[in-house]
Amino acid sequence: MTSDQSMTSDQTKVIVGASLAGARAARTLRDEGFDGPVILIGKEDETPYERPPLSKDYLMGKHGRDKLYVQPREWYAEHDIDLRLGTTATGLDPAAHEVVLAGGERVPYSQVLLTTGSSPRRLTVPGADLEGVMYLRFVGDSDRIRASFERASRVAVIGAGWIGLETAAAARAAGADVTVLETAELPLLRVLGREVAEVFAKLHADNGVDQRFGVQVAEITGDAGLATGVRLEDGTEIDADVVIVGIGITPNVQLAIAAGLNVDNGVVTDAQLRTSDPDVFAAGDVANAFHPMIGKHIRVEHWANALHQPVAAAKAMLGQDVSYDRVPYFYTDQYDLGMEYAGYVEPGGYDQVVFRGDVPGREFIAFWLANDGRVLAGMNVNIWDVNDTISALVRAGKPVSDDALADPSVPLESLA
Ligand SMILES: Cc1cc2nc3c(=O)[nH]c(=O)nc-3n(C[C@H](O)[C@H](O)[C@H](O)COP(=O)(O)OP(=O)(O)OC[C@H]3O[C@@H](n4cnc5c(N)ncnc54)[C@H](O)[C@@H]3O)c2cc1C
Ligand SMILES: NC(=O)c1ccc[n+]([C@@H]2O[C@H](COP(=O)([O-])OP(=O)(O)OC[C@H]3O[C@@H](n4cnc5c(N)ncnc54)[C@H](O)[C@@H]3O)[C@@H](O)[C@H]2O)c1
Repeated sequence: MTSDQSMTSDQTKVIVGASLAGARAARTLRDEGFDGPVILIGKEDETPYERPPLSKDYLMGKHGRDKLYVQPREWYAEHDIDLRLGTTATGLDPAAHEVVLAGGERVPYSQVLLTTGSSPRRLTVPGADLEGVMYLRFVGDSDRIRASFERASRVAVIGAGWIGLETAAAARAAGADVTVLETAELPLLRVLGREVAEVFAKLHADNGVDQRFGVQVAEITGDAGLATGVRLEDGTEIDADVVIVGIGITPNVQLAIAAGLNVDNGVVTDAQLRTSDPDVFAAGDVANAFHPMIGKHIRVEHWANALHQPVAAAKAMLGQDVSYDRVPYFYTDQYDLGMEYAGYVEPGGYDQVVFRGDVPGREFIAFWLANDGRVLAGMNVNIWDVNDTISALVRAGKPVSDDALADPSVPLESLA
């Protein structure tokens, strides 16, 4: 190594993964006054962008690409960020303190942050590779799906999770007949539980979606290389011009595994976002981080986590004493339902759900309670400016009367 290289790598911060989490970390390094080299490496050719609109307003053609960007393209040069797009990191060598790029270049670092995110799980049934079978992760996917809505009158959606339900709503808005196929008994069942999952099933039924629960996809049928529908294990055939698959994601942990880091449902970190190697950090979808308030490691696959967690990681890389313990948050927009959710509940990990407000009218708050009466999570549906209070209730971690929670005349603030 030359003395020049060693001087550079003594300070250089490298970020692998140039999406929301990566861009936010780069920004934080500069906001916090770090003036050494920052290299942001990203596989995609696009300026770092946010994904939530890809299944909502952008997919429905309500706005263009300019609104997707985390920061304008010029920001990176103006802040002396070495943004290397269209560049894949193929290796991480913690002993040498180097990131290896496709093509063989080795990039020295003093500290590296992994913000490699996640990738859609793929269907493995016969016909899954036919043209017309689509996934939604990248901006180009959203462009292709939107274009397909222009010619498709029948859309089949496999998976009634967030991607499935939001694209079903967009497909309905585009005028298509939509069939949703889900292995579980209800949509979003693992994350919301039966009581609130039923609200989403009714929402889509009311909007004309044909939902089939408890089904197994056996095959994507096709003709001349093009998907023509879906065959279920019980023999039922559903005709479709387009098949959209949203059956979950897996974290992009390949670099971390090859580097010998501790990986278990994501890259395992402490509350400072530091991995099992002291100079390697991880944040966003890929990180399984210890959460002090929840008292265990959690991996969060949502926007707010990718927005805030890398801020803490970047500060920790600068030697600040941080501990990431924000209450997890996510939101969705489907038809005329908008909601926000604050908290964390493992599948089936609650005792009861308490509703406040008008559930059939879809204007309510739902609270998930532990058996000792603590509020584990809350979700405001078409009611606004209450999520910070819900978050405070979750953070307080003390028992709350379910009668008081259900009673709209009791101010929520008085319970937090
Ligand atoms: C269509 C869609 C809609 C969503 N809507 C919502 C929503 O409404 N609300 C919500 O809370 N959440 C939503 N999410 C989830 C949210 O977008 C994610 O949690 C967030 O994108 C995670 O950000 P990230 O930066 O950690 O990872 P990612 O966004 O996955 O980005 C990782 C980046 O790293 C790159 N990369 C990976 N490996 C390498 C490598 N080896 N070398 C170089 N680059 C690499 C990838 O190409 C990618 O650009 C949505 C997700 C999708 C796909
Ligand atoms: N509003 C939001 O927060 C939002 C919106 C879009 C995407 N996202 C994120 O994007 C990622 C991907 O979303 P997703 O909807 O693909 O995942 P998901 O985990 O939300 O839902 C996957 C669904 O597919 C079902 N499923 C799994 N295998 C199946 C199969 N073979 N056949 C039929 N159904 C099957 C599951 O039971 C589950 O209901 C997630 O991390 C999600 O959090 C979030």
